[in-house]
Amino acid sequence: MSFTSCTLSFTGGTEKTVLATRSLVKTLGISGVKTITLKVGSKDVSVPIKLVKRPGMTLYLPIAIKQALRVPRSGRAYVHYDAANQELRLGPLIGIMTGAMVRTSAESPHGPRSSLMRSYLSAGANKAFYFAFTPHDVDWSEGTVVGHFVSGEGEWVRKTVPLPDVVYNRLASRRAEKQQSFESFKERFIRKGIPVFNWSYFDKWDVYKILEGDEMKKHVPESHINPSPETLKAMLERHKFIYLKPTAGSLGNGIYRLTYHPGKGYFARFRQNNQNVLLRYGKFAGLSSMLGISRGRLRNYVAQQGIRLIEIDSCPIDFRFHMHKNSRDEWIVAGIGAKKAGRGSVTTHVKNGGQVMTPEQALGLVFGDRGNQVLEHAKQVAIQLCQAIERNYKRVLGELGLDIGIDQNERIWMFEANSKPGRSIFKHPGLKHQGRASLNHLVDYSVYLAKFRPRKEA
Ligand SMILES: Nc1ncnc2c1ncn2[C@@H]1O[C@H](COP(=O)(O)OP(=O)(O)O)[C@@H](O)[C@H]1O
Ligand SMILES: [Mg+2]
Repeated sequence: MSFTSCTLSFTGGTEKTVLATRSLVKTLGISGVKTITLKVGSKDVSVPIKLVKRPGMTLYLPIAIKQALRVPRSGRAYVHYDAANQELRLGPLIGIMTGAMVRTSAESPHGPRSSLMRSYLSAGANKAFYFAFTPHDVDWSEGTVVGHFVSGEGEWVRKTVPLPDVVYNRLASRRAEKQQSFESFKERFIRKGIPVFNWSYFDKWDVYKILEGDEMKKHVPESHINPSPETLKAMLERHKFIYLKPTAGSLGNGIYRLTYHPGKGYFARFRQNNQNVLLRYGKFAGLSSMLGISRGRLRNYVAQQGIRLIEIDSCPIDFRFHMHKNSRDEWIVAGIGAKKAGRGSVTTHVKNGGQVMTPEQALGLVFGDRGNQVLEHAKQVAIQLCQAIERNYKRVLGELGLDIGIDQNERIWMFEANSKPGRSIFKHPGLKHQGRASLNHLVDYSVYLAKFRPRKEA
């Protein structure tokens, strides 16, 4: 089996023969073959192939074949040849699945997410056939999808294409994703041999459970789901401060930081109406009643041991490690944002006054010359955490956003693993380059999953 990238060129006329230049035929090892199965995504046709004496690596496709296979565009693409089956695949066809948005238009077919979609697609523009689609765009009976492509001129264009070779799931609704109908929808791709990554949102508790029994669990602070008042009280005595987080939460919403000072009482910090609130209770019962535990208000909350994070100017800092699988199916750190909490804030989110820095800046301020060493260690741990999550999880993962803390003894902790990580750290001028690398890794890994690259020996 062999693969390379080449130029696709559409030719007029009515003939049905595919022409390939000598270098392309040689690179792919197509020799002595008269007819091949040409494949794009889920569609294939059997066609005669002939050598053409022209320079370069080009495949010439007659219009009739372009239409039969619904090839979305000419230009650069990968080709993969399987000599055993005389099968030549073009593409790959990569679909990013996103949600149907209410406010859409021709200029922004994915509503407010259009520019995000555009940045994903731009990274694959000259490599693969890359498009965005919503679940409604799939026609299972025809085996086609109406995809949104970005043209060379940067315009959105709708094209009907075969089912993709791989699906990158960026559906942005936890609620929609929990529905059984959506689960079955994704399963249909799997049944057709089409990989889907990442399968779904992770709840925090899902990830802690996934790591249960794994050696890497030691990097997760002690955590309990649906804590009883007794559990909270005991945790507060043991750890002095704890975090309460909604298991399916994000962006710091609904988080409490509880502290116990023997002699002074119990303190609760949280964010309300865009302000940081601090409350004090002399007795645990007061705190417990404010939290509404007996009224069931902490259902689906996780109580977690508080970690004393390293600080800059007395503000805690933590890190977003944006992790990817690369084209060799290995986890790598694509980009790291250090996040300094806003004063009085219980989280480091920018919308709560947090500030993004490069990790070199932040760790240099905390550890001086040793900053780099601490960073390298944290990277190793982040990679091992991704490997651990992956080995204990039955679905394919290609990207994870780890929220990582470093405590005052330099221990590394993971607060959560996001399976649909945001990209806000990459807005920082010092992280733009990593942002682009991250987008490229998504394409490379999709190409790998689509089996356009040699796979590791089992
Ligand atoms: N156990 C903890 N100890 C110390 N800080 C924490 C802890 N859990 C969360 N935090 C802080 O709160 C932030 C948000 O927590 P996280 O688990 O990432 O929830 P969210 O889904 O809201 O982002 C973290 O980035 C970190 O700054
Ligand atoms: Mg987080």
